[in-house]
Amino acid sequence: MSETTPLRLGILGSGRGSNFVAVADACAAGAVKAQPCLVLSDVENAGILGHARTRQIPARHIPPGKFRTRLDDEAEQVWIHELQQAGVELVVLAGFMRVLKGNFLNAFAGRIVNIHPSLLPSFPGLEAWKQALDYGVKVTGCTVHFVDSGIDSGPIIGQQSVPVLDGDTAESLHERIQLAEHELYPLCVARLASRSMRIQGRRVIG
Ligand code: GRF
Repeated sequence: MSETTPLRLGILGSGRGSNFVAVADACAAGAVKAQPCLVLSDVENAGILGHARTRQIPARHIPPGKFRTRLDDEAEQVWIHELQQAGVELVVLAGFMRVLKGNFLNAFAGRIVNIHPSLLPSFPGLEAWKQALDYGVKVTGCTVHFVDSGIDSGPIIGQQSVPVLDGDTAESLHERIQLAEHELYPLCVARLASRSMRIQGRRVIG
């Protein structure tokens, strides 16, 4: 990897794709020295695929196989192959609703990142904004982290806090968190693209 080459990104998503848009547009604007090379989705009509195609970024729906919460073994090989063929250096999860397992993690060891809508390690798992609201915390936020074999448990790259307001509903809080995500994810990908980041134990430095 040369320091002058943009980092090649493969983005995986199942939904709207607003985080993909934030990262892709920051790359296009030159604020992030990376190139989104391929977008893959397990959902045929996911918004993220349309956003990619509008931006002339290759985008494909690949069937996930027979399981609901992960890729089956056969599908996993296809997903890995597609990303490798595209020369992807960093896998960016942007609302990808499946857990990645051993073969995938090994194929891109230390090169998969995710964004989660809470200040981890608080509220891992689904609907983290609702968990935070129900718990009664006054501050929540979002976290970008490396993906390991646990649920939202890998080393933390960056976090941004968001206040919980008295009148908040799950929807209004989620919306405020998403605005923070759209700032945080491009910043973290920019740091990764500078290729100077290192991990000491659980600490991500640089
Ligand atoms: C985000 O809230 C992210 O934290 C979570 O999934 C959501 C994806 O939203 N992992 P979008 O598809 O990027 O709009």
